[in-house]
Amino acid sequence: MRVTFLLMEGITKTFPGVLALDSVTFEMEKGEVCALVGENGAGKSTLIKILSGVHRPDRGKIFLEGKERDFRSPIDAIRAGVAVIYQELSLAENLPVYANVFLGKEPWKFGINHSYLEERTKLILEELGFDIDPKIEVGKLNVSEKQLVAIAKALAYDAKIIVMDEPTATLTEYEVERLFEIIKRLKKRGVSVVFISHRLDEIFEVADKVVILRDGKKVGEGKLEDFSRDDIINLMVGRKIEDMYPKYNSPEDDVAFRVKNFEVPGYVSKLSFEVRKGEIFGVAGLVGCGKSELALGLFGAMKSRFDEMMIFGRKIGKLKSPIDALRNGLVLIPEERKKHGLVLGMSVVENIALPNVDKVSNPMYLSWRKTTNLAESAVRKFNIKTPSVRQLVKNLSGGNQQKVVIGKYIFREPDVIILAEPTRGIDVGAKVEVYRMMNDLANLGKAILFISSELPEIVSLSDRVMVLHRGKMTALLHGDQITQENILKAATGVM
Ligand SMILES: Nc1ncnc2c1ncn2[C@@H]1O[C@H](COP(=O)(O)OP(=O)(O)OP(=O)(O)O)[C@@H](O)[C@H]1O
Ligand SMILES: [Mg+2]
Repeated sequence: MRVTFLLMEGITKTFPGVLALDSVTFEMEKGEVCALVGENGAGKSTLIKILSGVHRPDRGKIFLEGKERDFRSPIDAIRAGVAVIYQELSLAENLPVYANVFLGKEPWKFGINHSYLEERTKLILEELGFDIDPKIEVGKLNVSEKQLVAIAKALAYDAKIIVMDEPTATLTEYEVERLFEIIKRLKKRGVSVVFISHRLDEIFEVADKVVILRDGKKVGEGKLEDFSRDDIINLMVGRKIEDMYPKYNSPEDDVAFRVKNFEVPGYVSKLSFEVRKGEIFGVAGLVGCGKSELALGLFGAMKSRFDEMMIFGRKIGKLKSPIDALRNGLVLIPEERKKHGLVLGMSVVENIALPNVDKVSNPMYLSWRKTTNLAESAVRKFNIKTPSVRQLVKNLSGGNQQKVVIGKYIFREPDVIILAEPTRGIDVGAKVEVYRMMNDLANLGKAILFISSELPEIVSLSDRVMVLHRGKMTALLHGDQITQENILKAATGVM
Protein backbone atom coordinates (compact mmCIF):
# COMPACT_ATOMS: atom_id res chain seq x y z
CA MET A 1 0.00 0.00 0.00
CA ARG A 2 1.28 3.45 -0.90
CA VAL A 3 1.45 5.85 2.01
CA THR A 4 1.13 9.59 1.73
CA PHE A 5 4.35 11.28 2.85
CA LEU A 6 2.53 13.81 5.00
CA LEU A 7 -1.10 13.48 5.91
CA MET A 8 -2.84 15.92 8.23
CA GLU A 9 -6.31 14.51 8.60
CA GLY A 10 -9.44 16.32 9.73
CA ILE A 11 -7.61 19.08 11.60
CA THR A 12 -9.86 21.32 13.67
CA LYS A 13 -8.65 24.20 15.80
CA THR A 14 -10.59 26.83 17.68
CA PHE A 15 -9.46 29.96 19.48
CA PRO A 16 -11.83 31.89 21.73
CA GLY A 17 -14.57 33.08 19.39
CA VAL A 18 -12.81 31.80 16.24
CA LEU A 19 -13.00 28.54 14.35
CA ALA A 20 -9.55 28.84 12.79
CA LEU A 21 -9.55 25.41 11.09
CA ASP A 22 -12.58 23.31 10.34
CA SER A 23 -11.61 19.66 9.74
CA VAL A 24 -8.98 20.41 7.14
CA THR A 25 -7.15 17.55 5.47
CA PHE A 26 -3.76 18.41 4.02
CA GLU A 27 -1.56 16.00 2.08
CA MET A 28 1.85 16.27 0.54
CA GLU A 29 4.30 13.95 -1.20
CA LYS A 30 8.05 13.68 -0.77
CA GLY A 31 9.93 16.30 -2.77
CA GLU A 32 6.77 18.23 -3.56
CA VAL A 33 6.37 21.98 -3.30
CA CYS A 34 2.91 22.84 -2.06
CA ALA A 35 1.54 26.37 -2.03
CA LEU A 36 -0.87 27.17 0.76
CA VAL A 37 -3.06 30.15 -0.09
CA GLY A 38 -6.06 31.98 1.30
CA GLU A 39 -7.22 35.38 2.45
CA ASN A 40 -5.96 36.94 5.65
CA GLY A 41 -7.21 34.92 8.57
CA ALA A 42 -8.06 31.88 6.44
CA GLY A 43 -6.01 29.62 8.74
CA LYS A 44 -2.73 29.14 6.85
CA SER A 45 -0.38 29.99 9.71
CA THR A 46 -2.52 28.05 12.17
CA LEU A 47 -2.26 24.92 10.02
CA ILE A 48 1.51 25.12 9.91
CA LYS A 49 1.73 25.92 13.60
CA ILE A 50 -0.07 22.64 14.18
CA LEU A 51 2.29 20.84 11.80
CA SER A 52 5.24 22.29 13.68
CA GLY A 53 4.03 21.57 17.19
CA VAL A 54 3.35 25.18 18.22
CA HIS A 55 -0.38 24.53 18.59
CA ARG A 56 -2.15 21.24 19.21
CA PRO A 57 -5.29 20.55 17.20
CA ASP A 58 -8.64 20.12 18.97
CA ARG A 59 -9.30 17.24 16.62
CA GLY A 60 -7.46 15.49 13.80
CA LYS A 61 -4.33 13.42 13.27
CA ILE A 62 -0.93 13.90 11.71
CA PHE A 63 0.83 11.08 9.86
CA LEU A 64 4.37 11.43 8.59
CA GLU A 65 5.64 8.60 6.37
CA GLY A 66 2.64 6.55 7.45
CA LYS A 67 3.34 6.87 11.17
CA GLU A 68 1.00 8.78 13.42
CA ARG A 69 2.72 11.67 15.18
CA ASP A 70 1.73 13.64 18.21
CA PHE A 71 3.75 16.83 18.29
CA ARG A 72 3.53 18.17 21.81
CA SER A 73 6.10 20.89 21.23
CA PRO A 74 8.15 22.40 18.42
CA ILE A 75 11.07 20.20 19.52
CA ASP A 76 9.03 17.06 18.75
CA ALA A 77 8.31 18.38 15.27
CA ILE A 78 11.92 19.37 14.62
CA ARG A 79 13.10 15.90 15.68
CA ALA A 80 10.61 14.36 13.27
CA GLY A 81 12.04 16.51 10.46
CA VAL A 82 9.64 19.44 10.24
CA ALA A 83 11.33 22.84 10.06
CA VAL A 84 9.55 26.16 9.83
CA ILE A 85 11.15 29.32 8.56
CA TYR A 86 9.13 32.15 10.02
CA GLN A 87 9.27 35.67 8.78
CA GLU A 88 10.60 36.89 12.06
CA LEU A 89 13.57 34.58 11.94
CA SER A 90 14.58 33.18 15.27
CA LEU A 91 18.33 33.29 14.98
CA ALA A 92 20.88 34.30 17.58
CA GLU A 93 22.09 37.62 16.17
CA ASN A 94 25.30 37.78 18.20
CA LEU A 95 26.53 34.30 17.29
CA PRO A 96 28.40 33.37 14.13
CA VAL A 97 26.62 31.57 11.30
CA TYR A 98 28.04 28.14 12.12
CA ALA A 99 26.94 28.33 15.75
CA ASN A 100 23.42 29.20 14.60
CA VAL A 101 23.31 26.37 12.12
CA PHE A 102 24.22 23.87 14.79
CA LEU A 103 22.60 25.62 17.75
CA GLY A 104 21.10 22.98 20.00
CA LYS A 105 22.64 20.24 17.91
CA GLU A 106 26.35 20.55 18.70
CA PRO A 107 28.10 17.44 19.86
CA TRP A 108 28.36 18.75 23.41
CA LYS A 109 30.00 15.69 24.89
CA PHE A 110 33.58 16.73 24.28
CA GLY A 111 33.04 20.45 24.44
CA ILE A 112 32.30 22.31 21.26
CA ASN A 113 34.72 21.79 18.44
CA HIS A 114 34.43 25.12 16.70
CA SER A 115 36.54 24.38 13.66
CA TYR A 116 34.64 21.15 13.06
CA LEU A 117 31.26 22.92 13.13
CA GLU A 118 32.62 25.66 10.94
CA GLU A 119 33.79 23.10 8.39
CA ARG A 120 30.44 21.25 8.40
CA THR A 121 28.56 24.53 8.03
CA LYS A 122 30.80 25.50 5.14
CA LEU A 123 29.93 22.24 3.41
CA ILE A 124 26.19 22.73 3.84
CA LEU A 125 26.39 26.33 2.63
CA GLU A 126 28.48 25.32 -0.37
CA GLU A 127 26.18 22.49 -1.28
CA LEU A 128 23.30 24.96 -1.33
CA GLY A 129 25.36 27.45 -3.30
CA PHE A 130 25.24 30.09 -0.54
CA ASP A 131 28.09 32.50 -0.50
CA ILE A 132 28.19 33.22 3.22
CA ASP A 133 31.16 33.15 5.56
CA PRO A 134 30.38 30.64 8.35
CA LYS A 135 32.32 32.80 10.82
CA ILE A 136 30.40 36.03 10.30
CA GLU A 137 28.00 37.17 13.03
CA VAL A 138 24.38 36.63 11.99
CA GLY A 139 23.48 40.15 13.11
CA LYS A 140 25.66 41.48 10.29
CA LEU A 141 23.68 39.68 7.56
CA ASN A 142 20.70 41.08 5.67
CA VAL A 143 17.21 39.53 5.76
CA SER A 144 17.79 37.39 2.70
CA GLU A 145 21.07 35.99 4.00
CA LYS A 146 19.48 35.28 7.37
CA GLN A 147 16.83 33.30 5.57
CA LEU A 148 19.54 31.25 3.91
CA VAL A 149 21.11 30.57 7.30
CA ALA A 150 17.72 29.40 8.57
CA ILE A 151 17.46 27.03 5.61
CA ALA A 152 20.98 25.72 6.23
CA LYS A 153 19.99 25.17 9.83
CA ALA A 154 16.92 23.21 8.79
CA LEU A 155 19.12 20.96 6.67
CA ALA A 156 21.62 20.47 9.48
CA TYR A 157 18.65 19.05 11.38
CA ASP A 158 17.86 16.72 8.44
CA ALA A 159 14.55 18.44 7.76
CA LYS A 160 12.20 16.43 5.55
CA ILE A 161 9.63 19.19 5.37
CA ILE A 162 10.49 22.87 5.27
CA VAL A 163 7.66 25.32 5.76
CA MET A 164 8.09 28.90 4.59
CA ASP A 165 5.46 31.37 5.84
CA GLU A 166 5.51 34.39 3.50
CA PRO A 167 9.26 34.14 2.90
CA THR A 168 9.40 36.58 0.00
CA ALA A 169 7.62 39.56 1.54
CA THR A 170 10.85 41.37 2.38
CA LEU A 171 13.12 40.12 -0.39
CA THR A 172 14.28 41.89 -3.52
CA GLU A 173 13.35 40.43 -6.89
CA TYR A 174 16.83 39.03 -7.28
CA GLU A 175 16.69 37.42 -3.86
CA VAL A 176 13.29 35.91 -4.61
CA GLU A 177 14.76 34.30 -7.72
CA ARG A 178 17.60 32.92 -5.65
CA LEU A 179 15.19 31.53 -3.07
CA PHE A 180 13.28 29.77 -5.85
CA GLU A 181 16.50 28.23 -7.11
CA ILE A 182 17.11 26.93 -3.62
CA ILE A 183 13.60 25.54 -3.33
CA LYS A 184 14.21 23.64 -6.57
CA ARG A 185 17.43 22.26 -5.15
CA LEU A 186 15.69 21.23 -1.93
CA LYS A 187 13.11 19.42 -4.03
CA LYS A 188 15.84 17.47 -5.80
CA ARG A 189 17.14 16.37 -2.41
CA GLY A 190 13.69 15.00 -1.65
CA VAL A 191 12.75 17.74 0.79
CA SER A 192 9.09 18.76 0.72
CA VAL A 193 8.33 22.45 0.91
CA VAL A 194 5.17 24.23 2.06
CA PHE A 195 5.14 27.72 0.63
CA ILE A 196 2.78 30.45 1.83
CA SER A 197 2.49 33.64 -0.20
CA HIS A 198 -0.05 36.24 -1.23
CA ARG A 199 1.70 36.70 -4.58
CA LEU A 200 0.09 34.35 -7.05
CA ASP A 201 2.73 34.77 -9.75
CA GLU A 202 5.28 33.32 -7.32
CA ILE A 203 3.08 30.37 -6.60
CA PHE A 204 2.79 29.54 -10.28
CA GLU A 205 6.54 29.79 -10.63
CA VAL A 206 7.60 27.61 -7.75
CA ALA A 207 4.85 25.23 -6.63
CA ASP A 208 3.68 21.83 -7.89
CA LYS A 209 0.37 21.85 -6.11
CA VAL A 210 -1.88 24.32 -4.37
CA VAL A 211 -4.22 24.08 -1.40
CA ILE A 212 -6.74 26.88 -0.95
CA LEU A 213 -8.25 27.74 2.43
CA ARG A 214 -11.19 30.01 3.11
CA ASP A 215 -12.54 30.77 6.58
CA GLY A 216 -10.78 27.76 8.04
CA LYS A 217 -12.03 25.31 5.41
CA LYS A 218 -10.26 23.72 2.50
CA VAL A 219 -12.09 24.96 -0.58
CA GLY A 220 -9.80 23.67 -3.31
CA GLU A 221 -6.65 21.72 -4.08
CA GLY A 222 -4.82 20.20 -7.01
CA LYS A 223 -1.93 20.44 -9.43
CA LEU A 224 -1.18 24.03 -10.35
CA GLU A 225 -1.47 23.33 -14.07
CA ASP A 226 -5.17 22.67 -13.51
CA PHE A 227 -5.75 26.17 -12.08
CA SER A 228 -5.78 29.64 -13.58
CA ARG A 229 -5.02 32.75 -11.51
CA ASP A 230 -8.66 33.68 -11.56
CA ASP A 231 -9.73 30.20 -10.41
CA ILE A 232 -7.51 30.56 -7.35
CA ILE A 233 -8.66 34.10 -6.58
CA ASN A 234 -12.31 33.14 -6.90
CA LEU A 235 -11.86 30.18 -4.56
CA MET A 236 -9.93 32.28 -2.04
CA VAL A 237 -12.38 35.16 -1.99
CA GLY A 238 -15.57 33.20 -2.56
CA ARG A 239 -16.78 35.72 -5.12
CA LYS A 240 -15.60 37.13 -8.42
CA ILE A 241 -13.31 40.13 -8.32
CA GLU A 242 -14.33 42.15 -11.36
CA ASP A 243 -11.61 44.71 -11.34
CA MET A 244 -8.35 44.03 -9.57
CA TYR A 245 -7.01 47.57 -10.13
CA PRO A 246 -9.84 50.11 -9.90
CA LYS A 247 -8.79 53.58 -11.04
CA TYR A 248 -11.19 56.48 -11.03
CA ASN A 249 -9.32 59.47 -9.59
CA SER A 250 -9.02 62.73 -11.50
CA PRO A 251 -5.93 64.81 -10.75
CA GLU A 252 -6.37 68.59 -10.68
CA ASP A 253 -3.89 71.19 -11.91
CA ASP A 254 -3.07 72.70 -8.52
CA VAL A 255 0.10 71.55 -6.87
CA ALA A 256 -0.57 70.05 -3.43
CA PHE A 257 2.89 69.02 -2.41
CA ARG A 258 6.28 70.21 -3.57
CA VAL A 259 9.85 69.52 -2.54
CA LYS A 260 13.05 71.01 -3.93
CA ASN A 261 16.40 69.31 -3.52
CA PHE A 262 15.17 66.95 -0.87
CA GLU A 263 17.96 64.83 0.58
CA VAL A 264 18.22 62.00 3.05
CA PRO A 265 21.97 61.92 3.59
CA GLY A 266 23.43 58.62 2.49
CA TYR A 267 20.20 57.41 0.83
CA VAL A 268 18.45 60.01 -1.28
CA SER A 269 20.15 62.83 -3.15
CA LYS A 270 18.57 66.08 -4.30
CA LEU A 271 15.10 65.06 -5.39
CA SER A 272 12.72 67.70 -6.68
CA PHE A 273 9.14 66.84 -7.52
CA GLU A 274 5.55 68.03 -7.26
CA VAL A 275 2.38 66.09 -6.56
CA ARG A 276 -0.93 67.60 -7.64
CA LYS A 277 -4.23 67.56 -5.82
CA GLY A 278 -6.02 64.32 -6.51
CA GLU A 279 -2.96 62.71 -8.01
CA ILE A 280 -1.63 59.26 -7.27
CA PHE A 281 2.10 59.71 -7.61
CA GLY A 282 3.91 56.37 -7.81
CA VAL A 283 7.43 55.87 -6.53
CA ALA A 284 9.20 52.78 -7.84
CA GLY A 285 12.67 51.28 -7.69
CA LEU A 286 14.47 48.17 -6.58
CA VAL A 287 15.02 47.44 -2.92
CA GLY A 288 17.88 49.64 -1.77
CA CYS A 289 17.08 52.45 -4.22
CA GLY A 290 16.16 54.80 -1.39
CA LYS A 291 12.38 54.78 -1.69
CA SER A 292 11.83 53.55 1.88
CA GLU A 293 14.21 56.20 3.19
CA LEU A 294 12.50 58.85 1.08
CA ALA A 295 9.22 58.01 2.82
CA LEU A 296 10.79 58.13 6.27
CA GLY A 297 12.61 61.34 5.42
CA LEU A 298 9.50 63.13 4.18
CA PHE A 299 7.71 62.08 7.35
CA GLY A 300 10.47 63.44 9.55
CA ALA A 301 11.42 59.99 10.82
CA MET A 302 14.86 60.20 9.19
CA LYS A 303 17.17 63.19 9.05
CA SER A 304 16.71 65.22 5.88
CA ARG A 305 17.77 68.45 4.16
CA PHE A 306 15.79 70.43 1.62
CA ASP A 307 15.63 73.80 -0.07
CA GLU A 308 11.86 73.93 -0.12
CA MET A 309 8.91 71.90 1.10
CA MET A 310 5.37 73.05 0.55
CA ILE A 311 2.00 71.52 1.42
CA PHE A 312 -1.13 73.18 0.04
CA GLY A 313 0.66 76.51 -0.13
CA ARG A 314 2.06 76.23 3.39
CA LYS A 315 5.84 76.37 3.61
CA ILE A 316 7.36 73.77 5.89
CA GLY A 317 10.33 75.33 7.62
CA LYS A 318 11.53 72.57 9.89
CA LEU A 319 11.06 68.87 9.78
CA LYS A 320 12.72 67.46 12.85
CA SER A 321 10.30 64.68 13.73
CA PRO A 322 7.04 63.05 12.63
CA ILE A 323 5.21 65.53 14.86
CA ASP A 324 6.22 68.33 12.48
CA ALA A 325 4.97 66.29 9.54
CA LEU A 326 1.66 65.41 11.19
CA ARG A 327 1.07 69.04 12.24
CA ASN A 328 1.47 70.05 8.63
CA GLY A 329 -0.96 67.49 7.35
CA LEU A 330 1.44 64.83 6.07
CA VAL A 331 1.07 61.24 7.19
CA LEU A 332 3.01 58.06 6.46
CA ILE A 333 1.53 54.59 6.48
CA PRO A 334 4.75 52.83 7.32
CA GLU A 335 6.26 49.85 5.63
CA GLU A 336 7.31 48.00 8.77
CA ARG A 337 3.87 48.03 10.18
CA LYS A 338 4.35 45.58 13.00
CA LYS A 339 7.30 47.55 14.30
CA HIS A 340 6.10 51.11 13.71
CA GLY A 341 2.38 50.88 13.37
CA LEU A 342 0.86 48.78 16.14
CA VAL A 343 0.71 48.19 19.84
CA LEU A 344 0.36 44.41 19.76
CA GLY A 345 -0.81 44.08 23.35
CA MET A 346 -3.73 46.47 22.81
CA SER A 347 -7.08 45.80 21.20
CA VAL A 348 -8.18 46.63 17.69
CA VAL A 349 -10.32 49.50 18.94
CA GLU A 350 -7.52 50.99 21.01
CA ASN A 351 -5.06 50.78 18.14
CA ILE A 352 -7.43 52.52 15.77
CA ALA A 353 -8.32 55.16 18.35
CA LEU A 354 -4.71 56.14 19.05
CA PRO A 355 -4.01 58.43 16.10
CA ASN A 356 -7.63 59.55 15.93
CA VAL A 357 -8.10 60.74 19.48
CA ASP A 358 -9.14 64.18 18.30
CA LYS A 359 -11.96 62.63 16.27
CA VAL A 360 -13.46 60.48 18.98
CA SER A 361 -13.22 62.78 21.95
CA ASN A 362 -14.35 66.23 22.96
CA PRO A 363 -12.43 68.37 25.46
CA MET A 364 -14.07 66.56 28.36
CA TYR A 365 -13.90 62.88 27.60
CA LEU A 366 -13.24 60.18 25.04
CA SER A 367 -16.41 58.82 23.51
CA TRP A 368 -16.31 55.06 23.72
CA ARG A 369 -19.24 54.86 21.34
CA LYS A 370 -17.55 56.99 18.69
CA THR A 371 -14.34 55.03 19.11
CA THR A 372 -16.14 51.75 18.70
CA ASN A 373 -18.00 53.03 15.65
CA LEU A 374 -14.77 54.15 14.05
CA ALA A 375 -13.13 50.79 14.69
CA GLU A 376 -16.16 48.90 13.46
CA SER A 377 -16.26 50.85 10.25
CA ALA A 378 -12.58 50.00 9.67
CA VAL A 379 -13.35 46.34 10.33
CA ARG A 380 -16.15 46.42 7.75
CA LYS A 381 -14.30 48.42 5.14
CA PHE A 382 -11.21 46.21 5.14
CA ASN A 383 -12.90 42.98 6.08
CA ILE A 384 -10.67 42.64 9.14
CA LYS A 385 -11.20 39.17 10.52
CA THR A 386 -11.64 39.43 14.26
CA PRO A 387 -14.29 38.11 16.62
CA SER A 388 -14.75 41.66 17.97
CA VAL A 389 -13.04 45.04 18.01
CA ARG A 390 -11.91 44.25 21.53
CA GLN A 391 -9.70 41.39 20.37
CA LEU A 392 -6.01 41.99 21.08
CA VAL A 393 -4.09 42.80 17.91
CA LYS A 394 -1.45 40.17 18.68
CA ASN A 395 -4.12 37.49 18.21
CA LEU A 396 -4.98 38.59 14.68
CA SER A 397 -3.42 36.95 11.64
CA GLY A 398 -0.48 38.79 10.07
CA GLY A 399 -2.49 40.30 7.26
CA ASN A 400 -5.30 41.41 9.51
CA GLN A 401 -2.81 43.25 11.70
CA GLN A 402 -1.72 45.17 8.65
CA LYS A 403 -5.30 46.06 7.79
CA VAL A 404 -5.66 47.58 11.27
CA VAL A 405 -2.66 49.82 10.67
CA ILE A 406 -3.88 51.00 7.31
CA GLY A 407 -7.33 51.67 8.74
CA LYS A 408 -6.05 53.69 11.66
CA TYR A 409 -3.96 56.06 9.57
CA ILE A 410 -6.37 56.49 6.72
CA PHE A 411 -9.02 57.83 9.08
CA ARG A 412 -6.80 60.81 9.85
CA GLU A 413 -7.59 62.29 6.46
CA PRO A 414 -4.45 64.37 6.12
CA ASP A 415 -3.57 66.44 3.03
CA VAL A 416 -0.60 64.42 1.88
CA ILE A 417 -0.62 60.69 2.34
CA ILE A 418 2.44 58.54 1.83
CA LEU A 419 1.69 54.86 1.55
CA ALA A 420 4.77 52.64 1.77
CA GLU A 421 4.15 49.15 0.43
CA PRO A 422 0.53 49.33 1.58
CA THR A 423 -0.51 45.98 0.14
CA ARG A 424 2.38 43.88 1.38
CA GLY A 425 1.08 40.73 3.02
CA ILE A 426 -2.60 41.53 2.57
CA ASP A 427 -5.01 39.45 0.56
CA VAL A 428 -6.51 40.24 -2.85
CA GLY A 429 -9.84 41.45 -1.51
CA ALA A 430 -8.17 43.89 0.87
CA LYS A 431 -5.80 45.04 -1.86
CA VAL A 432 -8.73 46.14 -3.97
CA GLU A 433 -10.12 47.98 -0.91
CA VAL A 434 -6.80 49.80 -0.44
CA TYR A 435 -6.82 50.82 -4.12
CA ARG A 436 -10.37 52.15 -3.76
CA MET A 437 -9.36 54.11 -0.67
CA MET A 438 -6.50 55.66 -2.60
CA ASN A 439 -8.87 56.75 -5.38
CA ASP A 440 -11.43 58.06 -2.87
CA LEU A 441 -8.82 60.04 -0.94
CA ALA A 442 -7.43 61.46 -4.16
CA ASN A 443 -10.91 62.53 -5.20
CA LEU A 444 -11.17 64.44 -1.92
CA GLY A 445 -8.27 66.51 -3.24
CA LYS A 446 -5.47 64.82 -1.31
CA ALA A 447 -2.04 64.14 -2.73
CA ILE A 448 -1.06 60.49 -2.64
CA LEU A 449 2.51 59.22 -2.73
CA PHE A 450 2.30 55.56 -3.54
CA ILE A 451 5.54 53.68 -2.88
CA SER A 452 5.53 50.08 -3.95
CA SER A 453 7.76 47.26 -5.14
CA GLU A 454 4.91 45.52 -6.90
CA LEU A 455 5.02 46.76 -10.44
CA PRO A 456 1.53 45.74 -11.57
CA GLU A 457 -0.12 47.95 -8.95
CA ILE A 458 2.24 50.86 -9.57
CA VAL A 459 1.58 50.69 -13.30
CA SER A 460 -2.19 50.36 -12.93
CA LEU A 461 -2.83 52.95 -10.22
CA SER A 462 -0.34 55.78 -10.76
CA ASP A 463 -0.91 58.98 -12.73
CA ARG A 464 2.85 59.50 -12.84
CA VAL A 465 5.73 57.34 -11.68
CA MET A 466 9.03 58.55 -10.30
CA VAL A 467 11.70 55.85 -10.59
CA LEU A 468 14.67 55.87 -8.25
CA HIS A 469 18.05 54.25 -8.70
CA ARG A 470 20.71 54.61 -6.02
CA GLY A 471 18.86 57.52 -4.45
CA LYS A 472 18.49 59.51 -7.65
CA MET A 473 15.53 60.04 -9.94
CA THR A 474 16.22 58.18 -13.19
CA ALA A 475 12.80 58.66 -14.78
CA LEU A 476 9.53 60.50 -14.31
CA LEU A 477 7.00 58.63 -16.39
CA HIS A 478 3.45 59.61 -17.33
CA GLY A 479 0.64 58.31 -19.51
CA ASP A 480 1.68 55.59 -21.94
CA GLN A 481 5.25 55.73 -20.73
CA ILE A 482 4.19 53.97 -17.55
CA THR A 483 5.05 50.36 -18.33
CA GLN A 484 6.75 47.65 -16.30
CA GLU A 485 9.52 47.59 -18.87
CA ASN A 486 10.27 51.31 -18.65
CA ILE A 487 10.19 51.21 -14.87
CA LEU A 488 12.59 48.29 -14.73
CA LYS A 489 14.97 49.95 -17.17
CA ALA A 490 15.07 53.11 -15.10
CA ALA A 491 15.25 51.16 -11.87
CA THR A 492 18.35 49.34 -12.98
CA GLY A 493 19.90 52.57 -14.23
CA VAL A 494 19.72 51.64 -17.92
CA MET A 495 17.63 54.62 -18.92
N1 LIG B 1 -3.37 32.86 19.25
C1 LIG B 1 -4.56 33.19 18.74
N2 LIG B 1 -5.58 33.62 19.52
C2 LIG B 1 -6.78 33.93 19.00
N3 LIG B 1 -7.07 33.88 17.69
C3 LIG B 1 -6.10 33.46 16.85
C4 LIG B 1 -4.79 33.11 17.32
N4 LIG B 1 -4.05 32.74 16.26
C5 LIG B 1 -4.84 32.86 15.17
N5 LIG B 1 -6.08 33.29 15.53
C6 LIG B 1 -7.20 33.52 14.62
O1 LIG B 1 -7.35 32.38 13.78
C7 LIG B 1 -7.68 32.78 12.44
C8 LIG B 1 -6.67 32.21 11.47
O2 LIG B 1 -5.46 32.89 11.63
P1 LIG B 1 -4.13 32.54 10.82
O3 LIG B 1 -3.02 33.28 11.47
O4 LIG B 1 -3.99 31.07 10.69
O5 LIG B 1 -4.45 33.19 9.38
P2 LIG B 1 -3.56 33.26 8.06
O6 LIG B 1 -4.27 32.47 7.01
O7 LIG B 1 -2.16 32.89 8.37
O8 LIG B 1 -3.68 34.81 7.65
P3 LIG B 1 -2.58 35.89 7.13
O9 LIG B 1 -2.54 35.78 5.64
O10 LIG B 1 -3.20 37.19 7.51
O11 LIG B 1 -1.29 35.62 7.82
C9 LIG B 1 -7.75 34.29 12.45
O12 LIG B 1 -9.09 34.68 12.58
C10 LIG B 1 -6.96 34.68 13.68
O13 LIG B 1 -7.44 35.89 14.22
MG1 LIG C 1 -0.33 34.00 8.47
